[in-house]
Amino acid sequence: ASNGDVSVDPLRMVAKEMKFLTGNIRQLLGSGHPSLDTVAKYYTQAEGKHVRPLLVLLMSRATSLTPKAPRYGGQQSFADIDNPISPMSILSDVNPSIPSNNPITTQTQTSCPASETDILPSQRRLAEITELIHTASLLHDDVIDHSVSRRGAPSANLEFGNKMAVLAGDFLLSRASVALARLRDAEVTELLATVIANLVEGEFMQLKNTARDEKNPVWTEETISYYLQKTYLKSASLISKSCRAAALLGRSDAPTVDAAYLYGKNLGLAFQLVDDMLDYTISEKELGKPAGADLELGLATAPLLFAWKNNKELGLLVGRKFSLEGDVVRARELVLQSDGLEQTRALAEEYASRAIDSISSFPDCEAKEGLVDMAIKTIKRRK
Ligand code: FPP
Ligand code: MG
Ligand code: MG
Repeated sequence: ASNGDVSVDPLRMVAKEMKFLTGNIRQLLGSGHPSLDTVAKYYTQAEGKHVRPLLVLLMSRATSLTPKAPRYGGQQSFADIDNPISPMSILSDVNPSIPSNNPITTQTQTSCPASETDILPSQRRLAEITELIHTASLLHDDVIDHSVSRRGAPSANLEFGNKMAVLAGDFLLSRASVALARLRDAEVTELLATVIANLVEGEFMQLKNTARDEKNPVWTEETISYYLQKTYLKSASLISKSCRAAALLGRSDAPTVDAAYLYGKNLGLAFQLVDDMLDYTISEKELGKPAGADLELGLATAPLLFAWKNNKELGLLVGRKFSLEGDVVRARELVLQSDGLEQTRALAEEYASRAIDSISSFPDCEAKEGLVDMAIKTIKRRK
């Protein structure tokens, strides 16, 4: 029984691995230059939620008894070299599902072993790499967003200045890349390198708000699909591709690898939808970072986009990025009067339930329950 079962604690299931996470990350970030060392390790001081490493570790454990398939040392075939790098489309950026005559649903279901040996050292390292990439993106994000707080403390840009915060972010990316290269798995390296490109692509899409630069944009179905693609690139790409990578490192077969990816993609979309909702509903004190920041930054996220569908007045405000006096207050008012927040929550719930469905064929075990619980907690979270 997983749904609503309070005895399920995802953190406890991978507690041993999580205990070493921050220490190992700090080791990866060591620099001979004392001030670079300080700035690089700054965001590891406050306790983050560690959602991404937690997911990687749970996925590693949950896939440890799914069917295995031989891999070619993680090497891509040479034909791949001619393919274009880093496409922008959600649909074409990962290997499509490989049809299989051997669906995992037909496999015998076994329990996860209780031993600690089912998570590989490479999978533990992958968990650290995902947190490094995430933290690097936060260092850059706080500069772009002029943010003054993060994880309940002054942001790195406020504490050390923009230049050092940007360079520290680059340093984290570099150390993540070195750790990734040392896994000696070309497919996993390609996945995580693509994530870094996707983060930048997502951030660029966000700076533009809508597909076309217009003074008075009109609401179309494309408004939502543009937002979802941006959200995939900005948030779900790291989660989905690292879940995929965890399964690959464990030598899982293709249906398992695809299931892990789909779980991460759906969970990542749910996670960001909730994030965009909390920006409207939760105080700065509880969030540990500025609240109501999106409108101030000129950003139209899901709650506003749903409100806009029924109130054309919002189009004008979106077009000028809420830049005139009173725009932010007015937009906020219109969103709160609308069903935008409810619709955002409903969509997040839909993605969370899709995440759970994605791994339904995994053998029943504690780690699978942990993944299910993570999807439920993603919807319920307040920070
Ligand atoms: C947080 O979003 C930011 C991200 C999820 C990704 C930001 C990506 C970049 C800045 C691209 C460049 C980065 C790298 C590492 C290549 P948010 O601002 O909506 O959330 P917040 O409220 O936590 O600040
Ligand atoms: Mg931000
Ligand atoms: Mg941002």
